[in-house]
Amino acid sequence: MTQTSRSPRRILITGGAGFIASNLVYHWAEKYPGDRLIVLDALTYAGNRKTLEPLDANSNFRFVQGNICDRPLIESLLREEAIDTVAHLAAESHVDRSILGPGAFVQTNIVGTFTLLDAFRQYWDGAGKPDHFRFLHVSTDEVYGSLNPEDPAFSETTPYAPNSPYSASKAGSDHLARAYFHTYGMPTLITNCSNNYGPFHFPEKLIPLMCINILMGRSLPVYGDGQNVRDWLYVGDHCRALDAVIHQGTPGETYNIGGNNEVKNIDLVHQLCDLMAELAPSLPTPPQSLITFVKDRPGHDRRYAINATKIKTELGWEPAETLETGLRKTVQWYLDNTAWWQPLLSAEYQDYYQQVYASRLVQAG
Ligand code: NAD
Ligand code: DAU
Repeated sequence: MTQTSRSPRRILITGGAGFIASNLVYHWAEKYPGDRLIVLDALTYAGNRKTLEPLDANSNFRFVQGNICDRPLIESLLREEAIDTVAHLAAESHVDRSILGPGAFVQTNIVGTFTLLDAFRQYWDGAGKPDHFRFLHVSTDEVYGSLNPEDPAFSETTPYAPNSPYSASKAGSDHLARAYFHTYGMPTLITNCSNNYGPFHFPEKLIPLMCINILMGRSLPVYGDGQNVRDWLYVGDHCRALDAVIHQGTPGETYNIGGNNEVKNIDLVHQLCDLMAELAPSLPTPPQSLITFVKDRPGHDRRYAINATKIKTELGWEPAETLETGLRKTVQWYLDNTAWWQPLLSAEYQDYYQQVYASRLVQAG
């Protein structure tokens, strides 16, 4: 597709004040300045309105605080903004929180996704089912379950086997998105992506947590034996993949997205320690000495790996960043943007931290 042949889109991005979707909002605003861009976000603990403030002066951008479970709000937004494209990223996204309180995950990830899908179906139907309408449902590799060391990577045909309340709720939402294509012909597309990292990542996830704890001289809690493997993808690469799927993907299809960067957690933490020691001007404590093995996450999946052949061969997408280049950028971003993350270490964050880590540290002795 050449840029000259492209008609402007009117896109609704849900969860746009969160990590991945805020990166997508910036990607979209920069690459497609003629598009109308609406963000819908409930501003839960994970949503940060300040992240998008620099866009407020842009007349093509609008932020709406609201819940994806609020059907009247969604119906009116779709109509009033004449939306033709939905990129659905709003979710409860943290496995550890889903263990503490699974109800919010069922509500937002399943009921919320259903509400959006069904409102969009009614609206798309009423508009005469235009060919160019798209509904992108953004999901995770965790729906495929856990791999053994020698297993092949997840492909689009790997059976679902979610193990946490988070991944089970995402699996439920994926099935709904798929069913809306098969039953109603609605132009849904699904992506299943591996672990992202990069700017605007909420401090309680592994990579920002380690960077911030190193700066604060706080212990670096590694779950279990640290041998769990994740495949890490720089968030900017994920955004380019979502762009490719919206513009070139075939409705009804699923695309796996991964970084070709399988790493054990403990090795990743060592890499972060080395980078921080190199890039941070001064640290209270040598980072490696802060590493602490703590009680494992219940039901902790051992290994994720993504086979991203389909999106590469069909849509021409592949990651641009290696783990080395992406981590270096990310660490530098956290060093340069203390004003973004410092206010997020609120009393609520400290409560969460206590709930998740206090008993782990005690039991690890
Ligand atoms: P995040 O937790 O950083 O952001 C989620 C956003 O959704 C927040 O801004 C929050 O306020 C908003 N939100 C939550 N509930 C809402 C509701 N009911 N209504 C409206 N807004 C609501 O999440 P993330 O890590 O950026 O993940 C975004 C999406 O990508 C999720 O669907 C997640 O499952 C998927 N995903 C994430 C990763 C990853 O590594 N982070 C990898 C693969 C897929
Ligand atoms: O695989 C994609 C998924 O990646 C996304 O669907 C989720 O939304 C996203 O949160 C992420 O899930 P993880 O559970 O893999 O991410 P998290 O950053 O919480 O943990 C990464 C790994 O690090 C995991 O094996 C658990 C481990 N970990 C995590 C934390 C927060 C630790 O060892 N210590 C920690 O303190």
